[in-house]
Amino acid sequence: MRKKFRILVVDDELSIRISLGDLLRCDGYQVEVAESAESALEMLKTQSFDLLMVDIKMPGMDGLEMLKRVKGDDPDTTVVMMTAYGSIDSAVQAMKLGAIDYVIKPFDPMKIGAFVKRIFKNELMRREHRLLKHQVQVCCGYGPMIGQSPAMLKLFELVEDVSSTDSVVLITGESGTGKEVLARTIHEKSSRSNGLFVGVNFGAFTESLLESELFGYEKGAFTGANTSKKGLLEIASGGTFFLDEVGNASPKLQIDLLRVLQERKFRKIGGLRDEEVDFRVLAATNRDLEKAIEEGNFRQDLYYRLNVVQVHIPPLRERREDIPALARHFLEVLRARLNKKTSLISPEAMQYLVAYDWPGNVRELENAIERALVVGKQKRIMPEDLPIVLQEPSGEPIDESLDLREKDYIAKKLAQYEWNISRTAQALKIDRGTLYAKIKRYELS
Ligand SMILES: Nc1ncnc2c1ncn2[C@@H]1O[C@H](COP(=O)(O)OP(=O)(O)OP(=O)(O)O)[C@@H](O)[C@H]1O
Ligand SMILES: [Mg+2]
Repeated sequence: MRKKFRILVVDDELSIRISLGDLLRCDGYQVEVAESAESALEMLKTQSFDLLMVDIKMPGMDGLEMLKRVKGDDPDTTVVMMTAYGSIDSAVQAMKLGAIDYVIKPFDPMKIGAFVKRIFKNELMRREHRLLKHQVQVCCGYGPMIGQSPAMLKLFELVEDVSSTDSVVLITGESGTGKEVLARTIHEKSSRSNGLFVGVNFGAFTESLLESELFGYEKGAFTGANTSKKGLLEIASGGTFFLDEVGNASPKLQIDLLRVLQERKFRKIGGLRDEEVDFRVLAATNRDLEKAIEEGNFRQDLYYRLNVVQVHIPPLRERREDIPALARHFLEVLRARLNKKTSLISPEAMQYLVAYDWPGNVRELENAIERALVVGKQKRIMPEDLPIVLQEPSGEPIDESLDLREKDYIAKKLAQYEWNISRTAQALKIDRGTLYAKIKRYELS
């Protein structure tokens, strides 16, 4: 079920607070009331609302002044003014200040429900539009993948080339770097996008469960097999088969996979004949397979079958330029899902995000933004909303030369200000010429 819309009614008149409040609650909204603009502003510091309904004429701060402040703080707030008969002028003024509509008091209880419903319908469309616009505007990426660092741009180019082929692709990278999104992206861009994308995680299940899932079984193949079952290999036919965490496959499963890859055939458990498969194979691993081969934990022949084209996704700390765009992307997607008003990341918080080393990579960043949205009490994400580990200085090796540190520091600042040279120079307290010289000297790009 969708979260209830939250409405704040601001009116000095008790009867309005009660009647309007009851009316809207009956319609299923969550309603809070405030008796003055001052106390409403106080509430807005810690709570967010989907709609404010504000009386124009109130003792102390009036509704127009409150509207100005609210809009100054967050232009996205939806405000409807309430005004008594005969003061339409101020209602018109309110619209100019950004209120989206007004109601005239005394209002018809029958009509107010429909009015508020219409407001929310428009509001939802506006939000959806904003989200769509955001998705379209993701200039800096490839399909659903965000990235603008030189490393990622190079990777997107390679992916574009392999997408149109049917080659096996081995995707490597640390945990959380985006191996699975990349595999899905390749599938979506390929000629098999009409077929299914079937992923199997070789790290997550026992060998026997994996076997029955992969191959399926005939009725009566073993105790408990009361019916026959299709395996994932069969289901993936026509589409893409994604071997996730393939480095964790047991020796037995490695032989099974090898046979499937070599002969493009498999046999159901308890089955009597081989069945052909026709799918594109993608694989991912966060383990060093060559090392696993040396240690005798991974079959070399299987490795050769999988390692036709290798795509390596670098860890996030090696492409800090991607952090601001990723952070904003997750903010945009998650705020819609969590129905939160938080729409910005403060520059201080962004500084922490860019500086942190992200051992859990993009997934950890995504979680950090989600956490900040949940715990944050303000319209923008602040440093204190971020996990505590981000706020501790990262242990930099002491024997690093000064030059390297300067290079690293400048790279971080450039990423933080998204390569805006003037602002970066300002932040570094050097002039633009010096910054250009350093960029050239350290070969930053
Ligand atoms: N470049 C990117 N753009 C947008 N979202 C991304 C990107 N990279 C990763 N993500 C998101 O980060 C999360 C982790 O990605 P994913 O599951 O693909 O990582 P993984 O490398 O498969 O991790 P693991 O090794 O732990 O399985 C997902 O929610 C994914 O959508
Ligand atoms: Mg994964």
